[in-house]
Amino acid sequence: MASTSKSAATMDAITLLTDDHARVNKLFKAFQKAEKEDDLEAMEDVITTACAELDVHSKLEKELFYPAVREQADEELRDLLAEADVEHESVDALVHKLSEVKLDDEMYKANFTVLMEYVKHHVKEEEKEMFPKVRKLKRLDLDALGERMRARQEELMGDYLREAGYAAEDIEAAKAAMVAANKPRAKARTIRAHR
Ligand SMILES: [Fe+2]
Ligand SMILES: [Fe+2]
Repeated sequence: MASTSKSAATMDAITLLTDDHARVNKLFKAFQKAEKEDDLEAMEDVITTACAELDVHSKLEKELFYPAVREQADEELRDLLAEADVEHESVDALVHKLSEVKLDDEMYKANFTVLMEYVKHHVKEEEKEMFPKVRKLKRLDLDALGERMRARQEELMGDYLREAGYAAEDIEAAKAAMVAANKPRAKARTIRAHR
C-alpha cells in the first residue's frame, strides 16, 4: 500500500499549487461565513491562516515555479508570467499590511476583502490560462519541480513558525500539526498560541 507521504512526494508542481489554491478558497468561504455571523475571533483565525498560506505559496511560485517556467516559455507565456509578477506584488503588500493592522481597526476587514478579490482573480488566470500552457511545455519536468517545491514548502513553513515564535525544538511537531490541521481555526490557533 502506498503511503501518504509517498504520493505527496510525487505530486507534480501544478497539482501542488492547485491544492494550495483550493485550500485558500476554502478559507475565503470560512471568512465569509464568519463575517455573516459577525464572529470576530473566527475572522481573525481565518485571516491568520490564509495569510500564512498565501505567504508560503507566493514565495514558492516566485522562487521556483515561475523561474522554471520562464526558462521554457514562449512570448505569450512570458507575458502571463510578467502579469503574475505584478499581481503578486499587490497580494504580497496586502498580506504584509494585514500583519500590521489590528483586529479592531476597520481597515482590517477591508484589507482582507480586497485581498480575497485579488487572489481569486489571480488564481483564475493561473488555472485557466497559465497552467494549461505550462502543461504543454515538453522540456519541463513537472514531477521533479514538484518535489523541489514540496521540500521548499516545508522549509518555508518552518521559517514561518520560527517567526511566529516557536522554539527550535518545537518546529517539527508544529509543522506536522499545521499540515495535519484541516480546519482553519485549529491551524490558526497553532500559529497564534506561540506568538
Ligand atoms: Fe501566483
Ligand atoms: Fe498560485
